[in-house]
Amino acid sequence: MFCDTHCHLFREYYDDIDKVIAHAKENGVHRMIVAGCSGKSNQEVLLLTLKKEVYGVLGIHPEEIGNSTLKDMGFIKQNLTHPKIIGVGEIGLDYYYNKENKEEQKKLFEAQLGLAEEYHLPVVVHSREATLDTIQCLEKYKVKGVIHSFSGSLETAKIFIKMGFLLGINGVLTFKNCNLKEVIKELDLHTIVLETDSPYLAPVPFRGKQNDPSKVKTIAEFICELKGVSMEDLAKITNENIKRIFDI
Ligand code: NI
Repeated sequence: MFCDTHCHLFREYYDDIDKVIAHAKENGVHRMIVAGCSGKSNQEVLLLTLKKEVYGVLGIHPEEIGNSTLKDMGFIKQNLTHPKIIGVGEIGLDYYYNKENKEEQKKLFEAQLGLAEEYHLPVVVHSREATLDTIQCLEKYKVKGVIHSFSGSLETAKIFIKMGFLLGINGVLTFKNCNLKEVIKELDLHTIVLETDSPYLAPVPFRGKQNDPSKVKTIAEFICELKGVSMEDLAKITNENIKRIFDI
């Protein structure tokens, strides 16, 4: 039994979310952590946690900075004690899409890191072309969590691991010419969790199509082949990893 530690099961992407969850379960993926990105999607996350299989994290994504309000931050804060809201995310820095608002991004990121620290919750971090600033922001707070969609170097991986973070590994690993394969070969399996980032980043051979949590199975099979472990062992280890970070 696997868990998809990062997906966006929102109505704008899926017509029938119950069907998506049922399909995931048929493929051995029995739990999903849905990550909010905006005021609107955070409300959807909260509703989705009514489903037995779904846990949620709430946060404002750096790309949503222009669309977010104080009210959205208030909503996050209000719901951080909800039993199925298990973290703050997806939060972080993205200098790929926007380099002009770095200071604003850092301010929003740190405000949410502060919330996570205050509520003793883990964080789910988005970091794109912003590794150094991400590390500097994280170092200011007493938080642990997951570096979502990790695809950095072995050196960067070791820094995050030392800071108490797990690395979220998704379909990017299966892409041709992806250096992450070499990094994963060197890493202990106790440092990773599996995710899809659905509806994005579908693994090979589904690349370019809409992703869904069932594809954790494809990613897991790929890692088993790479590391020479069984699916059972990978499930056991990654589930233990999840429990070290999340109250799930
Ligand atoms: Ni995401």
